[in-house]
Amino acid sequence: QKDERESMMIVSAFAQKYFTRYLWSENEGRTIGLSYLRERGIRDEIIKKYELGFCPDAKDTFTQAAQKEGYKMDFLEKTGLTIKRDDWVRDRFAGRVMFPIHNIAGRVIAFGGRTLKSDKNVAKYLNSPESEIYHKSRVLYGIFQAKRDITRLDKCYLVEGYTDVLSLHQAGIENVVASSGTALTPDQIRLIKRFTPNITIIYDGDAAGIKASLRGIDLVLEEGVNVKVLLLPDGEDPDSFARSMSSGQLQQYIAEHETDFIRFKTQLLMKGAESDPISKARLINDIVRSIAMVPDAITRSVYIQECSRLMDVQEEILYTEVRKIKFRDN
Ligand code: CTP
Ligand code: MN
Ligand code: MN
Ligand code: MN
Ligand code: MN
Repeated sequence: QKDERESMMIVSAFAQKYFTRYLWSENEGRTIGLSYLRERGIRDEIIKKYELGFCPDAKDTFTQAAQKEGYKMDFLEKTGLTIKRDDWVRDRFAGRVMFPIHNIAGRVIAFGGRTLKSDKNVAKYLNSPESEIYHKSRVLYGIFQAKRDITRLDKCYLVEGYTDVLSLHQAGIENVVASSGTALTPDQIRLIKRFTPNITIIYDGDAAGIKASLRGIDLVLEEGVNVKVLLLPDGEDPDSFARSMSSGQLQQYIAEHETDFIRFKTQLLMKGAESDPISKARLINDIVRSIAMVPDAITRSVYIQECSRLMDVQEEILYTEVRKIKFRDN
């Protein structure tokens, strides 16, 4: 079992080196993959730091190269790099820009591959399948590159996608990881918690991103981690937003716009409803439900004070409501 995992990581490391060499040194890699990344504004230094690569756009060029180097089909299949059926073999990631996914120790355990086609029938990203070395729900993209800065700055930015991580890092925000599209999980939050108790969620500025932020808030609070949120302008994601300004401007924007979750919910859900007692009551209930998830009593009381101030309700009433919810749920 242990040998098998090791073999899978060894073949993954080979694949990453192969894809990276292909990106930098082969004509196809340079003219298609590297120019794509450069056109997106990703600097060479970042391409190297995240060990990006390119998989040849052919049936099984990578698989053949791997086999020639002595890597066994069994492990190529188990890592999902190769797809094998009775009568054919092909590279899963053919023609894609490769984003290796590292575990906390820096070993490659999986890949995300982005298509360069704009064809709506082609999945924009393909990911490695779940395997003995890759459990999607326990992994965060960029954690290896970010962990030192997360500890140093005692804070972690959480974004949705691969390119969001790269762009923020490039803009000088190096304490950033991505949940990679999958809905945020308790295991992912616990992974961050090993380095800091402070998370700021910066999801895409669309309906899905807002919904995911609201869900993320409660999950993070339940793990006893402090959560802030930054809402991006409509239609922007951290990558597109970062590229529309200088890194200084971005850092200033983030510092000025990140808000604690109570303020975030208030701003988001109150739009024009201040004078409507029913909407206000519903919002207070919503915030109280989130506060009730915080495990630590002192933190809860700090949030209650803030909610009381922002919403102009007596603290005692909020305490009573929080207690009711905690009592009901347990
Ligand atoms: N994702 C995925 N499979 C897809 C689409 C998305 O796994 N078919 C994951 C990827 O990790 C992606 C993240 O969800 O980075 C966020 O998705 P999205 O916002 O759609 O993509 P972007 O990261 O913005 O991609 P790009 O900027 O390259 O278009
Ligand atoms: Mn650093
Ligand atoms: Mn999105
Ligand atoms: Mn996006
Ligand atoms: Mn994007």
